[in-house]
Amino acid sequence: MIPSDLRAMAEQERERQEGFRCRIMVCAGTPCLSAGADVVLETLRQGIAEGGLDAEIESVATGCMGPCSRGPLVKVRSRGKEIVYERVTSESARQILFSVVKGRRPPTVSPLPPDLPFLARQERVVLANSGSVNPERIEEYVAAGGYEALSHALHEMTPDDVCREVSLSGLRGRGGAGYPTGVKWSLARKAPGERKYVVANGDEGDPGAYMDRSIMESDPHRVLEGMALAGYAIGAEQGFIYVRGEYHLAGRRLEGAIRDAERKGLLGSRVLGSNFNFRIDIRTGAGAFVCGEETSLMASIMGKRGQPWHRPPYPAQKGLWGNPTLINNVETFAAVPAVVGRGAEWFAAIGTPKSRGTKVYALCGQVEIAGLIEVPMGTTLREVVYEIGGGIPSGKRFKAAQSGGPSGGCIPASYLDTPLDYESMERIGTIMGSGGLIIMDETSCMPDVASFFLDFCRDESCGKCAPCRVGTVEMHRLLRRITSGTATMDDLVKLEELCELVGTTSLCGLGMTAPNPVLSTLRYFRDEYVDHIRQRRCTAGVCTIAENPAPGAEGEALLHAMGVPGEVE
Ligand SMILES: Cc1cc2nc3c(=O)[nH]c(=O)nc-3n(C[C@H](O)[C@H](O)[C@H](O)COP(=O)(O)O)c2cc1C
Ligand code: SF4
Ligand code: SF4
Ligand code: FES
Repeated sequence: MIPSDLRAMAEQERERQEGFRCRIMVCAGTPCLSAGADVVLETLRQGIAEGGLDAEIESVATGCMGPCSRGPLVKVRSRGKEIVYERVTSESARQILFSVVKGRRPPTVSPLPPDLPFLARQERVVLANSGSVNPERIEEYVAAGGYEALSHALHEMTPDDVCREVSLSGLRGRGGAGYPTGVKWSLARKAPGERKYVVANGDEGDPGAYMDRSIMESDPHRVLEGMALAGYAIGAEQGFIYVRGEYHLAGRRLEGAIRDAERKGLLGSRVLGSNFNFRIDIRTGAGAFVCGEETSLMASIMGKRGQPWHRPPYPAQKGLWGNPTLINNVETFAAVPAVVGRGAEWFAAIGTPKSRGTKVYALCGQVEIAGLIEVPMGTTLREVVYEIGGGIPSGKRFKAAQSGGPSGGCIPASYLDTPLDYESMERIGTIMGSGGLIIMDETSCMPDVASFFLDFCRDESCGKCAPCRVGTVEMHRLLRRITSGTATMDDLVKLEELCELVGTTSLCGLGMTAPNPVLSTLRYFRDEYVDHIRQRRCTAGVCTIAENPAPGAEGEALLHAMGVPGEVE
């Protein structure tokens, strides 16, 4: 395929789509599927076939539309207008189809208001196609402008130009640390080495997070295009996507996308008629959180035990099989086609001066509408919770938001007006992390929240270094004493000392950041810890204060409250 073929393919697909009177899209993301979207789709398809409507109405299975807690979602697009229906059942799907045919409103199905802030307040760059293209048809991605940035780069830009564009855009890594992407690419480009690699990190082990899963499921070609641009920019011919083992659908869709892209000459040898060769293979993780850490991820790809190693040397200098390796998060790669295609200036104009562009969040927990959102960096937490998320259900009060997973911390109500960007979040003792945002109301107990995350880190510690292996066990034990009302104030002092020790002496990020949920809840909710110890009282009513607490009782409340929409394992 050469660039003119790509344009012809896009044109042909657009014409094909315009040939239909109506396009009915059913969300086939994991949360909607777990709520019954497959039955809805089947009902619609049956209805279309029975009514002989195949030439008029196209049914499409798409990726995530956003408001996952309201799924299954169905979007009807006809004559330039779009209506989204929530909580669709087989019965209401029939009504929707009937309304499309007869041009009348369905009698009992209510659509989401088009100006619903959850939909209207977002700015979708990475998620631009999510929920409106069929992720299993490459033609739809191409018709939406896909692979144009790659074509432009291969034929009109040098690798240095691409690195420069990414640097100028101010894009920073979306996997957690927020390292400038352009700097990383330039380092990998300059690193001496015959053979170089590009790796997409799709391990996503943080509790509550599913941004990367959704991107891979909804728009796999965007990730592939971003990786191919990276390969061209740094001089690599091989890429790997490391996908979390539980993400079966994402893995399947990526596999299909790779095959289709190779068949069309958009990956493989002489991509788009240029001299650039680039292959991508999938590697599946086995569910260890530490394998998301870049050095253990590489160990895992090489078939070794997934344990971190000391840095430096950094992956950009010495990574897979000793060669320079560029590792970025899935969302980071997914932003690149927009950066290269629409230009660095366009991207840099979104967000704040130091945190550019948009960020995808998995908004879950105690909010009216839970789901996947994309907003400009610097949007405040209040806007996210109260405008986009629709506030706290049952008239309860907002208590805190947990961001950044086990490496992050809690944001209390007094900081609701904090802009969500890398610097502001760090200033108040949490991190952006990969974008998991768990909203908690007054029924959450903060020592219990800390205990939940410590329990997670203790379980996921790979055991390579003593501070983390032993320290997380001991910290969790102290937290359990606190939540069960059997701790003394000395235990609290010990806990704080351990936080300092584990944070400063662990080998990798898992141990270094494991104390964060404890430190941030202590910072803002110290009274609750003291109440548990001195008064033997849990004001939120979560902890069972007993002389001999049942093992593993704490944390369960949070697990339940997190309510990640449609989490299917
Ligand atoms: C324990 C641990 C788990 C991590 N898990 C992930 C992950 O699931 N996905 C991810 O992209 N980065 C994860 N990271 C961060 C990666 O090591 C790395 O910084 C990131 O993939 C780089 O991509 P970026 O620059 O695009 O953010 C993790 C780090 C640690 C310490
Ligand atoms: S000291 Fe004991 S536990 Fe540690 S590595 Fe040696 S045998 Fe194993
Ligand atoms: S900090 Fe924890 S996870 Fe990281 S190497 Fe040490 S033991 Fe393993
Ligand atoms: S999966 Fe359907 S809206 Fe998110």
